[in-house]
Amino acid sequence: VLEVITAEEAGFCFGVERAIEMVLEAAGENEELEVYTLGPLIHNPQVVEKLEAKNVKVASSLAEIDSGIVIIRSHGVAPEVITAARAKNLKIIDATCPFVKNAQKYAKQLIDEGYQTFIYGDEDHPEVQGIYGASDGKAVIIRDKDDLESVELKSRVGFIAQTTKSPESFREIINLVVTKVKELKVFNTICNTTDVRQSSAKKLAEDVDIMFVIGGHNSANTTRLAEICTATNTPTYHIETAAEIEKEWLSGKNKVGITAGASTSDWLIREVVQLMNEENKEVNVESTENNEKKE
Ligand code: F3S
Repeated sequence: VLEVITAEEAGFCFGVERAIEMVLEAAGENEELEVYTLGPLIHNPQVVEKLEAKNVKVASSLAEIDSGIVIIRSHGVAPEVITAARAKNLKIIDATCPFVKNAQKYAKQLIDEGYQTFIYGDEDHPEVQGIYGASDGKAVIIRDKDDLESVELKSRVGFIAQTTKSPESFREIINLVVTKVKELKVFNTICNTTDVRQSSAKKLAEDVDIMFVIGGHNSANTTRLAEICTATNTPTYHIETAAEIEKEWLSGKNKVGITAGASTSDWLIREVVQLMNEENKEVNVESTENNEKKE
């Protein structure tokens, strides 16, 4: 019989859950209006499909929206996007995660206070673009510590990080800078959801025979979770849905661990748990049949 354990911290983070609730509420209350999210709300095709079924469409830019409601996803956007949406007379629902909002606020504050401002993050990520926009395009984005070498540091330096960066790598960068400048102001904008989720996945992977990591193949945080679990040497499968599970993966396994990325909804997790329970039923039926035959 399979023992199934779900990681203590798995699935939607606070910011994503909040954004989805805001979208569903907007779609329910405004059936006569077109509802768009600016970019897919989350990196999870199944959830995006579900929202489409509720008539929530995905627009890749404001140019695709003529009227109705535009929802800003949890990553946030640069202030000029909000201004442009207002100019188009769109109703704006801002589902930017409050933690991302903080990072945006600090970016602006550091620039206003005259600090040479750095954003530690991935410049292609929408969240970082929004934070950069909040700095009025004045901050410098660095992807890693090597990027620092090409920049001449001023005497007053300010730092913020993309919310999903690892605390260790941020600490490493700050350590490098602190002795090179006169004043350093750091806002720790890292969201601990990622860290907590990763350590809880690792702990579980070390304790089970097989790990399922559920989440979009295009989701960076789910892929990272899968890497962390694989590194424990426990066979790990990154799947989007329960349908991808092949029975032979479970052969000879007793303990199954399940975790999920921040953009994975509870029902996708439940589906996998349910499938494991069905496996157990089958095993029970088989063993009862065997017993009957023996008798
Ligand atoms: Fe917000 Fe943290 Fe999620 S920043 S969107 S709660 S990962």
